[in-house]
Amino acid sequence: MFDLIVKGGTLPDGTVADIGIRGGRIAAVESRLQADAGEVIDATGDLVSPPFVDPHFHMDATLSYGLPRVNASGTLLEGIGLWGELKEIMTLEGLKERALAYCDWAVSMGLLHIRTHVDTCDDRLLGVQAMIEVREAVKPYLDLQLVAFPQDGVFRDPTAWDNTVRALDMGVDVVGGIPHFERTMAEGARSVTALCELAAERGLPVDMHCDETDDPMSRHVETLAMEAQRLGLQGRVVGSHLTSMHSMDNYYVSKLLPLIAEAGLAAIPNPLINIVLQGRHDTYPKRRGMTRVKEMRAMGIPVAFGQDCVLDPWYSLGTADMLDVAFMGLHVAQMTHPDEMRACFGMVTEESAKVIGAEGYGLAPGCAASLVVLDAADPVDALRLRPARLAVVAKGKVVSRTPRADAALALPGRPGSVRRRRPLPGRA
Ligand code: FE2
Repeated sequence: MFDLIVKGGTLPDGTVADIGIRGGRIAAVESRLQADAGEVIDATGDLVSPPFVDPHFHMDATLSYGLPRVNASGTLLEGIGLWGELKEIMTLEGLKERALAYCDWAVSMGLLHIRTHVDTCDDRLLGVQAMIEVREAVKPYLDLQLVAFPQDGVFRDPTAWDNTVRALDMGVDVVGGIPHFERTMAEGARSVTALCELAAERGLPVDMHCDETDDPMSRHVETLAMEAQRLGLQGRVVGSHLTSMHSMDNYYVSKLLPLIAEAGLAAIPNPLINIVLQGRHDTYPKRRGMTRVKEMRAMGIPVAFGQDCVLDPWYSLGTADMLDVAFMGLHVAQMTHPDEMRACFGMVTEESAKVIGAEGYGLAPGCAASLVVLDAADPVDALRLRPARLAVVAKGKVVSRTPRADAALALPGRPGSVRRRRPLPGRA
């Protein structure tokens, strides 16, 4: 007897299986489960995937677009300035309300694991307090990891170091940083060292905004890789964004990538935001700022795609759909071979879960019973369509349903509805 059976779905690897769920865990994955269940979801012909994972987000800023004004230049730097204005007028209730509204969007999109950076450059630590409360509130259905993120520079802002330490004392999970925003390259390098030492002392992972510029000479990921090695943090350190790698000299990158691989670093590009914010100081050709995804993957460096921003000082769009992120990522990284597209789907699901260490993730027996049923035949079809999330199951419970969206045609002599799903092979 199961609590729930998801019947006949196609898993991302192409296997067709029934998934039996009991007590919030996946209890069985078999081709044909002969058992009763409290509830059955018929997923015949639909893609059943483990949930989407966003490894890089800013939940303290989300859904604030237009407050107190919009970003006129569209640059990263004006966005940071605008965020500073917004911080002055934020309230604990407002922060929580927006974050919880975003979590509702996420759940409806099958996005059930989010790592969010939280600004620690605020003596009141309002954002940190709010996100800790939100993390607790959504725990029954969504896993939220918090990164202590000194947005204005851990050395550049006079109280940022103390506030970052306070945030960790309050229970923030990961140490962040922003070396390219410190006053000088040397100060940036010093911030990487100090923050990695802090993480090592406390046994915490590191996830640093790193080289998020078009500057081909930005060298902070090199320092991050060296510090990860020196402090024995291999496998626990992430370089987020790494946009300067787009502009770096090719010879230097040929030396850098092996260093990153050796240090066990993972990378998190954020395709939507990187292509929007970078290249703003260029005429033509305009650089798009996406880091070297294919080349890093070829070196065995784990890469996950992040959303970064939705409706905030840096980005005016977004719907919490990680398929939008992967869709943009595969275009900008030119990963259009079917194998590469499947890899892009993995970079917002399984690979992403590995990069942030999501607990109990996957569709194997024993994993947390969290999954999403998509109106698509397979991962590539899902990327093409970015379709309805027909059902979302979180820790054993059905938490969201969306109907299929077929268009009803009114054409002379061609009645009926239009489904844009790819026909299954061998079917008339
Ligand atoms: Fe970010």
